[in-house]
Amino acid sequence: MNTIAIGSDHGGLELKNLLVDFLKENGKKIIDIGCHSADSVDYPEFADEVCKKVLESDAEAGILVCGTGIGMSIAANRHRAIRAALCHESFTARMSREHNNANILCLGGRVVGSEIALDIVNTWVNTQFSGGRHQRRLDMLS
Ligand code: RB5
Repeated sequence: MNTIAIGSDHGGLELKNLLVDFLKENGKKIIDIGCHSADSVDYPEFADEVCKKVLESDAEAGILVCGTGIGMSIAANRHRAIRAALCHESFTARMSREHNNANILCLGGRVVGSEIALDIVNTWVNTQFSGGRHQRRLDMLS
């Protein structure tokens, strides 16, 4: 994946900014839809914006960060063609790509430390969908 849309609320702002720098340093094109300050904001608005970028093919994938990652994952998974995975370590991040073809990664900025988060993101963006029997199961969800 080359172009990634990313968004956060205030609870995920610090981690989101770290990830923007990391992904840019690793050659990714980033669409940062905010937030851009520590003011309290509503995570569904940012989830919807990132999902829209993915659904309209402006981005190949998205990353959403809030305090726990839970609100973002609930909001993102309301979109039928979005498969959002909330991950706290790299094994589930890898499996969410290989088996679930997750097109959104959700993270909890108040849950994972920066090194774990970078490991999760690095794994997620570099893992391909396995296809095969997993595609049949995804077809059952659409
Ligand atoms: C904001 O305080 C917090 O509720 C939000 O970032 C997120 O954790 C919601 O799921």
